[in-house]
Amino acid sequence: MLIQNASWITMKDAASTVVPVFRRRFSCGRPICSATLEVTCDGVYEAVLNGKRVGNFILAPGWTEYRKRLQVQAYDIRDLLARGNTLEITVANGWYRRTNAPWTGTHNPDEFLPAMLIAALRVVTEDGEETVILTDEAWEVSESTVTLSGIFIGEDVDMTRVPAFRPAQVCDYPKSILIPQEGPEVHEQEIVYPRSSFRTPKGEWVIDFGQNLTGYMAFELDARAGEKLSISTAEVLDRDGNFYTANYRSARSQLHYICREGYQSYKPRFTFFGFRYLRIDEAPEGFDADQIHAVVLHSEMKRTGWLDSSDPTLNQLFSNILWSQKGNYLDIPTDCPQRDERYGWTGDGQIFCRAATLQYDVRQFFRKWLADVRAAQHENGWVPDVVPSLTAYKPGGSAWSDAVTIIPWQLYQTYGEVSFLADMYNAMEKWIAYIPTVSTAKDLCTGVWTYGDWLALDAPEDYQPKDMEDSKRGYSDDDLVCSAFYANSVAIVIRTGRLLGRDVSEYEELHERIVRAYRERFGGRLNTQTEKVLTLHFNLAEDPQALSDSLAEQVRDCGMKLQTGLVGTPYLLHELSRYGHADIAWSLLLRKEYPGWLYPISKGATTMWEHWDGIKPDGSFWSDDMNSYNHYAYGSVADWVFGVACGIQPAEPGYARARIAPQPDPRLNSLCAVLDTVHGRIRSAWKHTEQGIRYEIDTPVPTEIILNGKSRTVGKGRYLF
Ligand code: BGC
Repeated sequence: MLIQNASWITMKDAASTVVPVFRRRFSCGRPICSATLEVTCDGVYEAVLNGKRVGNFILAPGWTEYRKRLQVQAYDIRDLLARGNTLEITVANGWYRRTNAPWTGTHNPDEFLPAMLIAALRVVTEDGEETVILTDEAWEVSESTVTLSGIFIGEDVDMTRVPAFRPAQVCDYPKSILIPQEGPEVHEQEIVYPRSSFRTPKGEWVIDFGQNLTGYMAFELDARAGEKLSISTAEVLDRDGNFYTANYRSARSQLHYICREGYQSYKPRFTFFGFRYLRIDEAPEGFDADQIHAVVLHSEMKRTGWLDSSDPTLNQLFSNILWSQKGNYLDIPTDCPQRDERYGWTGDGQIFCRAATLQYDVRQFFRKWLADVRAAQHENGWVPDVVPSLTAYKPGGSAWSDAVTIIPWQLYQTYGEVSFLADMYNAMEKWIAYIPTVSTAKDLCTGVWTYGDWLALDAPEDYQPKDMEDSKRGYSDDDLVCSAFYANSVAIVIRTGRLLGRDVSEYEELHERIVRAYRERFGGRLNTQTEKVLTLHFNLAEDPQALSDSLAEQVRDCGMKLQTGLVGTPYLLHELSRYGHADIAWSLLLRKEYPGWLYPISKGATTMWEHWDGIKPDGSFWSDDMNSYNHYAYGSVADWVFGVACGIQPAEPGYARARIAPQPDPRLNSLCAVLDTVHGRIRSAWKHTEQGIRYEIDTPVPTEIILNGKSRTVGKGRYLF
């Protein structure tokens, strides 16, 4: 990359909150044969050439494990060039210099890097004349019109500010971290217009977009210089119908815009928000809701899966799951897009991954993120709880760190590409080799830090949690949870190793020992739903049928309620239906009361919630502290709908051969799943009719169709039963 010849440049003595704009003027000959701009920075940037934005990548260079990997974008700028040119690149804090507002006390300017830019440009004319421009002292720099910026903060803009350029300074920063762009770019994906605009009981002016989304607001207006437009964001209104922002915690999540004279349009350039509602805190006179709209952002990925049913509430759930994937696949897989986290929580990533691979083609998205998982993995084998990792670099523990095995294995199942496994094999081996170094018991994973079955609902009422985290970890035995995931990761390493032609005999012996030790230690005391679910899902039960029966009974006995948390929920319905309890699985899916998938919809949810009772039946909130309304983890249930309710399974990785075994339920009239696999489109639909259930199956590959226990093997084609 030409950029390796360039120097990092910065603005000398700038305060840590300054958002500088770097400028370089140059001329070049014509006609142009090729022109490329390579650029990256320690934040997020926007490049503008001769007044036009370079490329469509929003929040470039994206978020990677910056200590080791920083993506460089290469743009073809042929169409933007003139004879005399001005290139301006603004660099804001972004994720690299991740900060909160100075007044929150979490911003420490001393620990803060200055904004830095590195870029290289090469123009070649048709007669071979070459112009090379590299970042160096010939560049100038000024404070930009953005006066404050941060992922959590939002953006402050002063359009009346007049730039004052001075020479930029070359600075010392590693270039060894620079890598070519790997992930799909984040683009503007769709526009959502206001659904309504009203005054709350408190008198606040609020605009409702009717959809919780991730992106930003965009507006146009006519104003006098100095007039202000200030906007706050929110996901929900409170019980009284007032604007509610406490669940953003310390994320300010606002836009403050000082107008210049005349007609203008704007949208934030260096941040994003998670919101359904906007509150107009201040606006130029005459400003109206139809001057504003919302722009949805996410990583570029092709839609591959569709679900549709005869039940509008269920369809709303499908829509909510989709919107939560869109909202949380913004360069990395995040837990939530709004509060002061927006991290690449490895556990959440793993939990939702199967559903994600069905709804969108996420191959490139995960190829990049898994490279960050490898880069973030500690040398002794643990994988951090969030990737990209943070300064407080911390092991994820079971189910979180296990993303290192589970995600590549799932990608291989959905897309059939062994490279996902080959790329991760060493990292997988390192993770399972780490466990015995910290476990207190041989052949198990015990006494090791874990988030447990995060947010489970199974603690007895009189349980006294040791601390905040303990109160959220659920009541399942941590050692059991960790050991079950250990067994699963070793099993994945064995299957992966075999595919790659490695000698896995040692792992096979290890796995046998783990199963034995697990059964000995936990076999006789499987109490919580999650303990049973994990034991079943990871094939650790001695008598799986009996265990699934007891799970079904337990669910029934506690009032047909799930009690599982983040870790157990994704597998719960699978482990019921796999052993003949599809009716119970359906009861859980169709349950309209708390806790259950359809309850939030009765409270107006348009995305998945972190807590089933994010809004309680009386309209009050579960809590202010940890209450995200865009958290995809429980959306993992989509994989049960595709894979069991409609029954679409890969009989061979990538669906080179399929197995279609729908499990309909009399309470739902019809259901249809469409899945674009790498081998073509599979469609599985069923509908209750007077003559019985009518099944419609389309398959592009040899398929085993199983209906009511009867199996038939068919070739590519369309089938009606
Ligand atoms: C996140 C979760 C995450 C958890 C770790 C939370 O704050 O939002 O989704 O997995 O922390 O237990």
